[in-house]
Amino acid sequence: MTAVDARLRPATGLAFPPGFRWGTATAAYQIEGAAAEDGRTPSIWDTFSRVPGKVRNGDTGDIAADHYHRIAEDVALMRDLGVTDYRFSVSWSRVQPGGRGPAATKGLDFYRRLVDELRGAGIRPVATLYHWDLPQELEDAGGWPHRDTAERFAEYAALMADALGDRVATWTTLNEPWCAAFLGYASGVHAPGRKDPAASLRAAHHFNLGHGLAVRALRAALPGSAEVSLTLNLHAVRPLTGSEADRDAARRIDALGNRVFLDPVFLGRLPDDLVADTAALTDWSFVKDGDLAAAATPIDSLGINYYSPTVVTAGTHEGPSPWPGAEGHVRFEPAPGPRTAMDWPVDADGLYELLTRLRDELPHVPLVITENGAAYDDYADPSGAVHDPERVAYLHQHLTAVHRAIEDGADVRGYFLWSLLDNFEWAYGYSKRFGIVHVDFASQRRTPKDSARWYADVIARGGLPD
Ligand code: NOJ
Repeated sequence: MTAVDARLRPATGLAFPPGFRWGTATAAYQIEGAAAEDGRTPSIWDTFSRVPGKVRNGDTGDIAADHYHRIAEDVALMRDLGVTDYRFSVSWSRVQPGGRGPAATKGLDFYRRLVDELRGAGIRPVATLYHWDLPQELEDAGGWPHRDTAERFAEYAALMADALGDRVATWTTLNEPWCAAFLGYASGVHAPGRKDPAASLRAAHHFNLGHGLAVRALRAALPGSAEVSLTLNLHAVRPLTGSEADRDAARRIDALGNRVFLDPVFLGRLPDDLVADTAALTDWSFVKDGDLAAAATPIDSLGINYYSPTVVTAGTHEGPSPWPGAEGHVRFEPAPGPRTAMDWPVDADGLYELLTRLRDELPHVPLVITENGAAYDDYADPSGAVHDPERVAYLHQHLTAVHRAIEDGADVRGYFLWSLLDNFEWAYGYSKRFGIVHVDFASQRRTPKDSARWYADVIARGGLPD
């Protein structure tokens, strides 16, 4: 794959702003493998994936895409794509076994080698500290519903800043705390698999607190030099009709899905309606003085992961629900239109809606799309090629929506495509392929799909073709 030099080929079609960051994203448990190597201890996903029936086909991340042993090959793939940035996550229990105490040198060395390889290829490393793989010992001690986990997380952030701060400038504290809190502790479809709605609300608060304490730790260790962010999977919520009841259902989901994080982090307060809606489950007395001020420690940008919109109407939905307190009030409606292999609707307008909402509500916060992409049932044809026209169409539509939002005043600084590689898609195991590079998990052979060539061309042009 040869990326065309941007200087030789001026942008036609939709040009993105100069300096726009073009990246790909992955996460440790989804690609690394080497689950028991060099002192790494189990995370909640190692445990959960071994519980029969929790992950499709009984898949685990033991080997995954074997990225732990393939840094050079995987960075070379990105160099060929021409990406400016790479978003990866750190496996907490690889660098601090058990989640407390001293660092593991070999684990840290792996990330040092990765970052050095990236920098050597001219790619900026963007490190996410938490992408769902809590050390099992910390879950055994209470997990995220337990306040101490937030403090352990800040210590781990400090440890990482000391170890990698000389070569990583861009940090994300948490990835998608909504999924980690509510899929992990309310509906139980993700690790650790608990079904305790009240505990999930405590977890959400401790994610906000842990985020804020980690921001402080990063700033203290890297004064003036760190760019610090948080990634949320914000819900583009739409009421099915304009009726008051449907609009109230949308308000509830906006509170539980978006403002539960946005308000503490950007306004230093909990939404009143969230507290009222969840009153039967908790009085929120676990929120201590100073917690919300900590959560609101200023950050440099907000990361947004977007895949699909959420359509709601007044009604009830079947449990187990990741929406504590909303069960009797909200029904989820399938959005119309084409679907990906996840059965998620393809609807780029939802991304435009989110970006312009944030433009209006948080006008001074730079935005970065930290994930966007789609799963399809890709396979290598007899010649070895992987044709994925639906993914190219999905990406084209969503980048067009990002461009439209920028033209309309949204301060979007970058776009990270999920994902570089096919990988372990959580409860779906290896059955869903999000990569722009196909992975044959039997041989670990990597094959760039047509979408990889298309993305390389977009990056080289600095925008979308006509
Ligand atoms: C968001 C998560 O951050 C990522 O880990 C996951 O694979 C993608 N969504 C696709 O579901």
